[in-house]
Amino acid sequence: MDFSVDTATDAVLESFRDTPDPRVRELLSSLTEHLHAFVREARPSLEEWNAAIEFLTATGQACTETRQEFILLSDVLGISMLVETMNGQQQGTESTVLGPFHVTESPERALGEVISEAGEPCVVSGQVRSTAGDPVPHAAIDIWQCNADGFYDVQQPDVQPAGNGRGLFRADSDGRYWFRTVVPSHYPIPTDGPVGRLLHATNRHPYRPAHIHFIVRADGYEPLTTHAFVAGSPYVDSDAVFAVKQSLLVDFAESDDDAAAADFGVTAPFTHAQFDIALQPH
Ligand code: BEZ
Ligand code: FE
Repeated sequence: MDFSVDTATDAVLESFRDTPDPRVRELLSSLTEHLHAFVREARPSLEEWNAAIEFLTATGQACTETRQEFILLSDVLGISMLVETMNGQQQGTESTVLGPFHVTESPERALGEVISEAGEPCVVSGQVRSTAGDPVPHAAIDIWQCNADGFYDVQQPDVQPAGNGRGLFRADSDGRYWFRTVVPSHYPIPTDGPVGRLLHATNRHPYRPAHIHFIVRADGYEPLTTHAFVAGSPYVDSDAVFAVKQSLLVDFAESDDDAAAADFGVTAPFTHAQFDIALQPH
C-alpha cells in the first residue's frame, strides 16, 4: 500500500495482524490509533516532533537506580492515577499512586518501631480488615515517607541513613499495626529534570500534600497501594500528581489517651494518626 495521510493508520494496524498475543495486538493497535489521531489533530511540525523525541529521550536518560523520571512523567500527566484507579480495588480503602520513591526495599521492622526521628513525633496505627469488616491477621504493610524537610532517604543518601522513613511491618493476629515516625512534610516532586521543565513551561507548581505511602498485602485479598494524607496539609486541593481522594485524609491529632500512649510506648499527649484499611477479597 502506498503511504498517504489517509492510509497510514490502516497500514500500521495491518502490520500488527500476525501478533500472536491478542492483548499485545489490542494495546498496540489502540495506541497507534490514538497517536495518529493526535498527530492529525495537533499537526506537530518536524521541529516539535523532534523536541518531543528529545524530551522522552531525556526522560529515560534521567532514570537511575534511585530515580524514575518516567513514573514522574506518568504521574504529572494524571495517567498513573487513571491506571491505578481503574485497576485498584473497587471496594474498601481507595487506592492512589505508587510514585517514584518505592525504589528500595523497606527494612523489616517490628510493630511499634520508630522509622524516622527528626521532626514532630507521631504514632500511626490502625487495623486491617476485610470489606466485610473481619480483621485480616498478619497483613504485610510496606510504609515509606519523606522526612520533616520533605525528602526521601534516597534523595539524601549523605544525610539520611538508607531505610529512614521506611518499614515493612506485619500486622498482629487481630490485623492491628502501629509504628512511630515524624509527621511528614508536603514537598516538591523533583524538578531538576525533564518533568520539571514541563511543569515550568506550563506554570504548574510541583508540590504534593504531606502523606505516608502504604502497600498492604494479605493472602486472599487484592493488594492495595495507597496513602494516608495529612488532613489540612498545604496542597491538599492541588496535588501536582492528582492523587488526593477525600477518603484518604487523616487527622494527625493530639491525643491525651494515657492507655493508648502506654500501648504505643509513648507518653501522652502525643500526635496520633489512625488509618484503618479495608481490603477487598480476590
Ligand atoms: C510520591 O508521593 O512519592 C510521589 C508521587 C508522584 C510523583 C512524585 C512523588
Ligand atoms: Fe510521596
